[in-house]
Amino acid sequence: MNYFEFTNPTKLCSGQGALDNLAYELQILGASHPMVLSDAMLEKIGTLKGVTDALSEMQIGRIFTDIPRDSSIETVNRIAKEYRDFGCDALVALGGGSVLDTAKGVRLLISQDVDDLLELMGCECVPKGKPVPFVAIPTTAGTGSEATAVAVIKNPGLGIKMEYISQQLVPDTAILDPRMTETLPPRITASTGMDTLCHAIEAFSCLQKNPVSDAYAIAAIGLVRDNLLRAVRFGSSRQARWAMANASFLAGAAFSNSMVGVVHAIGHALGGVCHVPHGDAMNILLPAGMMFNCKKCRDDYGELLLHLAGPELYRKTPKQKRARAAIEEVLRMREKLHRLTGLPVTLKEAGVDPAKFPEVAKAALNDGAVIVNPRQVTYDAVIRILEVSYGN
Ligand SMILES: [Fe+2]
Repeated sequence: MNYFEFTNPTKLCSGQGALDNLAYELQILGASHPMVLSDAMLEKIGTLKGVTDALSEMQIGRIFTDIPRDSSIETVNRIAKEYRDFGCDALVALGGGSVLDTAKGVRLLISQDVDDLLELMGCECVPKGKPVPFVAIPTTAGTGSEATAVAVIKNPGLGIKMEYISQQLVPDTAILDPRMTETLPPRITASTGMDTLCHAIEAFSCLQKNPVSDAYAIAAIGLVRDNLLRAVRFGSSRQARWAMANASFLAGAAFSNSMVGVVHAIGHALGGVCHVPHGDAMNILLPAGMMFNCKKCRDDYGELLLHLAGPELYRKTPKQKRARAAIEEVLRMREKLHRLTGLPVTLKEAGVDPAKFPEVAKAALNDGAVIVNPRQVTYDAVIRILEVSYGN
């Protein structure tokens, strides 16, 4: 590598009470009647009310909560139409990856003055277009979507998850308030936390890595190491929740620049074909994916041992054994989460039918993440990773 680019234009408002800044942040972005996107569960448990209360002195243009777990192109198109019909002038997205990615799709449609997201496939080079102020408020600490230029949106017609990548998708502002994640159940905390870890590890080892994305990835890994189990065990610990929210943002900014790898490629395919939740898939596939890549990134994984396990184990482990020890650290963390929450560690536990492996492998090879994986990914390699992850 002799050249790289790194971008992270998102303003971060992070910490206890950060949500109280929402109206001010919208005002300085020039917005006066935002559309608020969320989901029915967040409305039911009162998290959405925290946002509408924070906007009490502003006129909300429209609240839309009918966003499913795996949002689709149709949902995005429908919301964009309502945004125009109700004369909204900004987007506030409160939720997990699905809500945030839906908002990204809506922003793309409004800014480009297009009605159907299918028209914007391959949108990497679209111009800036009409400004649409966009504030993201994540309620999980996992996807990192609040810091990325990526949106994953389902195309039900083709039965696949489509990946949109564009700088026009990056939120203007991310609000990380530990109050937004403290009601997250332990199992989802575990699953989304492993997604964060996977973003950081893949960002640190993929072909597009660079010194700046490395710094973000390493910081994220340290926060996950020290706080994920604590956030699972003691969900009301605002310190642990805050640390995991920061980890998610850092890992998101890392992989938005360096990209991910084979674990995400297969995970996206498993989501599309077998409907395995993304974080569960990352948790299941990460060790086998690392084993596959180990041949090509022994030094990177060896360095990761320091951040995954701390200096004592790193110092005690001979250099040639550090990469393997890093994978064992990931396995140990998985075992602890499995014991605490039942988070599946095999595809068998996740209910995946091995007869679907060929379909999953074909979809994985079409995923952009295989291009930057440190080791060339073949059909046979994907099948092998799936078989190992099944529990064979
Ligand atoms: Fe992910």
